[in-house]
Amino acid sequence: MRYASITDRLSGLGSGKWALHIQARAMAAAGIPVIELTIGEPDLPPDRALLDEAARAMYAGRIKYSNGRGEPAVLEALVAKYRKRRADVTEANILCFPGTQTALFAVMLGLAEAGDEVLVGDPLYATYEGVVASTGAAIRTVPLRPEHRFHMQAADLEAAITPKSRVLLLNNPHNPSGAVLTREEVIAIGEVCRKHDLWILCDEVYEELTFGAEFHSPFDMPEFADRTIAVASISKSHAAPGFRSGWAAGPAEFCERLLPVSETMLFGVQPFIADMTAMAVSQPFDTARQMRERYSRRAELAAETLGGSNVIKPLMPEGGMFILLDVGATGLDGEAFARRLLREKHVAVMPGGSFGENAKEFVRLSLTVPDETLVEAVGHIADLGQELTGLAAKRA
Ligand SMILES: Cc1ncc(COP(=O)(O)O)c(C=O)c1O
Repeated sequence: MRYASITDRLSGLGSGKWALHIQARAMAAAGIPVIELTIGEPDLPPDRALLDEAARAMYAGRIKYSNGRGEPAVLEALVAKYRKRRADVTEANILCFPGTQTALFAVMLGLAEAGDEVLVGDPLYATYEGVVASTGAAIRTVPLRPEHRFHMQAADLEAAITPKSRVLLLNNPHNPSGAVLTREEVIAIGEVCRKHDLWILCDEVYEELTFGAEFHSPFDMPEFADRTIAVASISKSHAAPGFRSGWAAGPAEFCERLLPVSETMLFGVQPFIADMTAMAVSQPFDTARQMRERYSRRAELAAETLGGSNVIKPLMPEGGMFILLDVGATGLDGEAFARRLLREKHVAVMPGGSFGENAKEFVRLSLTVPDETLVEAVGHIADLGQELTGLAAKRA
């Protein structure tokens, strides 16, 4: 049988990246105790009131068809949220989707196609390759450099632009590095996009998980508002990834044009989940604060456990749920180090190379495990670092 080319473009995407995670799961299934620091799922439950609201709404009959843009209550809540960031936001600027991932997919489908290029910082979140490839467009990477703590530099962006460039896919706060762009950086990036007439698609799923650094977005800046679409969800902010509830916020004309795409894909999102999302977005909950406190504390704990080692060096995150460790001084790259760590110490981490060229010397640890588990795992990482450098010293 003959298949459409999208199945080729997406085939195998990601499977190599997750090889180590899959191997760790297989070891665990075989009874080997593995500390798993590969994926990042919030390690606390959503607020009970949100679960109650979803159940209440479901039993109250909020299980019928919805509409393509979103339920009135959630639209109202999202308008209020984004009005705090930019005063002119209305319902015409919002589209609801089942999660950031679907929003990324649909928005990109509305912005890029075969023959176009989409600029993405490298390292990049694992699904971006598929998001871009599904449209037929090509990825063009912008190097994010460890010496800039993986903050995108406007000059690096400008150097990567070609006549085919259409969109910058900007992830801020950034996964895997935890970088949070400064206002000056966002403005400089926005100016480059304006000069070259690029769309800016901002993945802001970690907006509420910053550890003190102030969050800035081109969406909030009137000079970039006509070219910026922000996407986010309640997956991280409210520890509710399984509810699959997110949205896109962008120019009214863009939303109007994308609405039929959304309707064709989804025929609306679930009303009872919309009700729960409206509550999540419009009322204060403590979940994000607890996560910020936990993940920043654990990043500090990991650094303390490494004790200023010049073999394994932490890159302190400014937000998110991960920490990158530079393992280059061990003589192994992140991939080889992670494989050896799993084999010899039964600790599973993500090789930085799974996220791109520029993180190859790093491994990424999820901060979503209890403090003592993280300290134990980082202790094993430090030990392996010592063993490897001791070996190297002996050889020399
Ligand atoms: C950068 C980034 N974007 C998007 C997502 C997916 O978010 P959602 O659950 O809202 O689809 C994740 C999940 O880990 C992520 O790290």
